Amino acid sequence: MVEVTFVSHRGESRTVNGNEGESVMQVALNNGVPGILADCGGGLACATCHVHIAPDWMDRVGTPDSEEEMMLEMAVDPDENSRLSCQIKLSADIDGLVVNLPASQL
Ligand code: FES
Repeated sequence: MVEVTFVSHRGESRTVNGNEGESVMQVALNNGVPGILADCGGGLACATCHVHIAPDWMDRVGTPDSEEEMMLEMAVDPDENSRLSCQIKLSADIDGLVVNLPASQL
């Protein structure tokens, strides 16, 4: 299992577990984490799974590819730590990941 902590813009945190290979978006939906809407179901077509990766985790999570970057332009208030959570696969390398949820998705 891989642990992910979601922190709301109000500072409330929720830690959940998912299986390797699932996306961060899937683990949020599976556990009823508010703030991940995922309207397109992971098809890289909506940007409603937008998260801000905690700065300490950016190196391990990595940067978006060009297709994800284009979709991130549709997100509200993207920053240099923005990623689409449907594009981040859980693995042992990111066990303990912390992501911050945008205020716009609540
Ligand atoms: S769920 Fe739509 S882009 Fe991630």
